[in-house]
Amino acid sequence: MKTIMLIFGTRPEAIKMCPLVKELERNKNIKTVVCVTGQHRKMLDMVLEAFDVVPNYDLSIMKDKQTLYEVTGNVLSSMKHVLEAVNPDVVLVHGDTTTTFTAALACFYKQIPVGHVEAGLRTYDIYSPFPEEFNRQAVGIISKYHFAPTEMARQNLLREGKRPDHIWVTGNTGIDALKTTVKYNYDHHLLNWVKGSKFIMLTAHRRENLGKPLYHMFKAIDKVVREFSDVKVVYPVHLNPTVQQTAKDVFGDNDRVKLVEPMDVIDFHNFMAHSYIILTDSGGIQEEAPSLGKPVLVMRDTTERPEGIKAGTLKLVGTEEDTIYSSCKQLLIDKKEYRRMSEASNPYGDGSASKKIVEILQKLSCSD
Ligand code: UD1
Ligand code: UDP
Repeated sequence: MKTIMLIFGTRPEAIKMCPLVKELERNKNIKTVVCVTGQHRKMLDMVLEAFDVVPNYDLSIMKDKQTLYEVTGNVLSSMKHVLEAVNPDVVLVHGDTTTTFTAALACFYKQIPVGHVEAGLRTYDIYSPFPEEFNRQAVGIISKYHFAPTEMARQNLLREGKRPDHIWVTGNTGIDALKTTVKYNYDHHLLNWVKGSKFIMLTAHRRENLGKPLYHMFKAIDKVVREFSDVKVVYPVHLNPTVQQTAKDVFGDNDRVKLVEPMDVIDFHNFMAHSYIILTDSGGIQEEAPSLGKPVLVMRDTTERPEGIKAGTLKLVGTEEDTIYSSCKQLLIDKKEYRRMSEASNPYGDGSASKKIVEILQKLSCSD
């Protein structure tokens, strides 16, 4: 029997790995082991609970205002013992976080084969997004198996010289998650508050946006809300204390902006489904929104998800106050543009990515 170990540590990794955990657990020929690093604590636990996943190992490394040095060092030193205890045939990591990179590095030191889920996303600027672009390129070098969400991602990996027979286009497991969370008859008391308004769903947290960019992003949104009396914003604020502080500073006295705790993934997906526009610097939300037919203004200078831009659902608006303000205003007043963005098709798969990955893993032999 093959032992497959999944290692993840933050909210977005958990949302995209839990469907895979569930699919692996259904397979009688595979022993599934889950190790979480606890790079996030509360935000990770909320996802584990929503998907009913109980980890076999929890490294519990999170510290308040942790640095990249701390996360990297603590994950690396704790991983050694877990890898020795489990001795997995393959380790699966996801995406681009410091947990992802460090777990892959720990496997490399023990020469354990790594499978990269959501492989091949690239901006080719290692400082944008930071440190994620470096993380995914480095994990790409370490990994033996590459599960690419799209054909564009596969092409990136081929250009980098990865073995063609070790790359599979599977779709994104985030869409698998979305298929189980969005409910037709979903209800929540906050949805009564936004009823009748053009409801903007906002998230922002990127490390490279902390400080001035975040301040300018929020200022632009505050200006839009003050100008359009039919607009309301719900913002589940990331638990990073720096993000929390900037959000309170800018939106504190705006009664049409609700700052709330991070939402459980079921609530968040259903809120997205009820929103009019999404404003975000998140990665995962760029993949989910096209499936829900929601226009997204991406408050970043680069994106590793060009498929959504090409499809027409995403628009890259940078972090400058004026550009965000005018792009948001245009989407609120230009019905044709709104319709064009909301009717684009979803390029990230049909929700069967986990199934495909498990089928591939089952067929792999040790010599592959
Ligand atoms: C991390 C990832 C980023 C991903 C994001 C998803 C890295 C370097 N960054 O960034 O790629 O997009 O997660 O959200 O891997 N905190 C809590 N409770 C939590 C989670 C976070 O209090 O449950 C606070 C802590 O003070 C922590 C801080 O947020 O130190 C930052 O967390 P960290 O994981 O280092 O960075 P993120 O910005 O969340
Ligand atoms: N999300 C959530 N609750 C929230 C905000 C986001 O469950 O309050 C989900 C969202 O649907 C997506 C993921 O978290 O699946 C994105 O996480 P985040 O933006 O933190 O990270 P990124 O994708 O940028 O790495």
